[in-house]
Amino acid sequence: MNQSLDYKIHAPIGVFDSGVGGLTVAREIMRQLPKERIIYFGDTARVPYGSKSKETIIRYSRQIAHFLESRGVKAIVAACNTASAYALEEIRPELKIPAIGVVKPGAKVAAETTANGRIGVIGTEGTIASQIYTEMIHRHNPDASVMGKACPLFVPLVEEGWLKDPVTIEVARRYLASFQESGIDTLILGCTHYPLLRSMVQEIMGEGVNLVNPAYETAQELKRLLSQHKIPNDGKGDRQMPMYQFYVSDAAEKFKNFANSILPCEIEEAQLVQIEE
Ligand code: DGL
Repeated sequence: MNQSLDYKIHAPIGVFDSGVGGLTVAREIMRQLPKERIIYFGDTARVPYGSKSKETIIRYSRQIAHFLESRGVKAIVAACNTASAYALEEIRPELKIPAIGVVKPGAKVAAETTANGRIGVIGTEGTIASQIYTEMIHRHNPDASVMGKACPLFVPLVEEGWLKDPVTIEVARRYLASFQESGIDTLILGCTHYPLLRSMVQEIMGEGVNLVNPAYETAQELKRLLSQHKIPNDGKGDRQMPMYQFYVSDAAEKFKNFANSILPCEIEEAQLVQIEE
């Protein structure tokens, strides 16, 4: 086999996020593409991205994408909704490898599966303000009506581990109240952390509302992308090479503990990287 293609097949997928949230996407990739290696970067020194400007998100995402590229990844997944919304299109032309985000796959499935054309989106302030989900949904379903709601308190509540806490339930009820009269039949969980609140959101919205998890759809999209480029891992290759590697820009121990609470595997360490350099 061609040497460089062989190298690419066994090279890892680069996944990045502002911090721990993108682990929900890494988890889906581990489940759906168990032969793929992953290098994950969590920008724990500069989280949150959700309240920062577009220029800042582009600068951070560019640094991380180039770091991942320098580690020899064969494709990049921007697991962060805010980075997907603001930075992906800007940095894609600078990369030598394919890159996807989480917004497009989530928007596409919502646009295609809604029965009544009424779709809700919840996300960070940045993601909702960017209107990216509305734009992407309209590419597939121009008549859909899309209603967005920023839910900024969800991220710290999830990171605090208050997944089923009465405080989180009350906050969720207040945020989701605006959807109750809107007649939506589909709600996109447009932030990395929200799949961890899925059952609570489902209970509040009722069974009649279909929840879309962009993490799941992104792993499906990644599978298609790798086949299209003829680079899915065949599971052979260098067995000494680690399956999963984790890098962070700060607080490695805290990251490791969170990762071990949600990933299907035990991670031994997260390495610190000075990403600004
Ligand atoms: N990862 C971010 C997102 O999906 C949420 C956390 C943050 O604001 O950085 O938009």
